[in-house]
Amino acid sequence: MPKRDFLAIPDFSADDLSHLLDVAARMKDGSDTGKPLAGRTLGMIFTKSSTRTRVSFEVGAYQLGGHALFLSSRDIQLGRGEPIADTAKVLSRYLDIIMIRTFAHAEVEELAATASIPVINGLTDLLHPCQILADLLTMREHIGGWEGKTVVWIGDGNNMANSWINAAGTLGFELRLACPEGYEPDRDVFDRNKDRTSISITEDLEEAVAGAHVVTTDVWASMGQEAEAEARQVAFQGYLVDDALMAKADPDAIFLHCLPAHRGEEVTGSVIDGPQSRVWDEAENRLHVQKALMAELLET
Ligand code: CP
Ligand code: NVA
Repeated sequence: MPKRDFLAIPDFSADDLSHLLDVAARMKDGSDTGKPLAGRTLGMIFTKSSTRTRVSFEVGAYQLGGHALFLSSRDIQLGRGEPIADTAKVLSRYLDIIMIRTFAHAEVEELAATASIPVINGLTDLLHPCQILADLLTMREHIGGWEGKTVVWIGDGNNMANSWINAAGTLGFELRLACPEGYEPDRDVFDRNKDRTSISITEDLEEAVAGAHVVTTDVWASMGQEAEAEARQVAFQGYLVDDALMAKADPDAIFLHCLPAHRGEEVTGSVIDGPQSRVWDEAENRLHVQKALMAELLET
């Protein structure tokens, strides 16, 4: 059986995703206590900061009976220029599964192509698929799933926006993106998915949010875009999820945010800390979906 990676949502079919969320739900409610990582080791390569991804993967590996190694690029030879392919071949001799968070998506693809063990994308400049798994589980828990539902993305056409597009294309829900001109999502990701479901891009936030079931956003400047932060402060003025905007959505709409958040920039404190926010369940769900993901990838 060839090894399986998870670099992007479309690596899994709609049925695979439903099954993965079923497993995650059983792990969450305590009815699945399997230890598929017993005697096995997860390596976690980070060239960017992280709170949730690092802790949820490390705790998840432990709960599945395995061990996790935190490999900061500051400390391993990768950070001093050792080729990705050499790193992948060597790590494959020690580890059973790798999670990587880095800048260029192509590096993760190269790692996966040269490693003989499963590779998980823990965020690149292009995509953040593990976060979307958690968001889908949160949708299932709080609004009964995605069928017939509309998700609205407010703000930067970044790695989260691109992954929402992949999810909409794979699962068939409606996605509306409100992004300022010049900050639209990745063109290739958009083109690959645009005919698979209803995906629209607008600059009109209120039009986008009308009747939506999920309202979600992210920071104006992602990791690696620190030098653009000032220009982005200008470009994203008004791209704020506040109570008035939430009032235009479905009355039972939920608010999601991958975190970390900047209160007062992309979202008000009243929304992220308010009754429609599900951000803490969303963060917790990283643990459950990633445990299910590791179990699935190690099964093959
Ligand atoms: N949402 C998310 O990936 O958070 P971290 O950057 O803290 O891992
Ligand atoms: N778009 C953000 C997500 C952080 C989890 C970033 O890439 O920094």
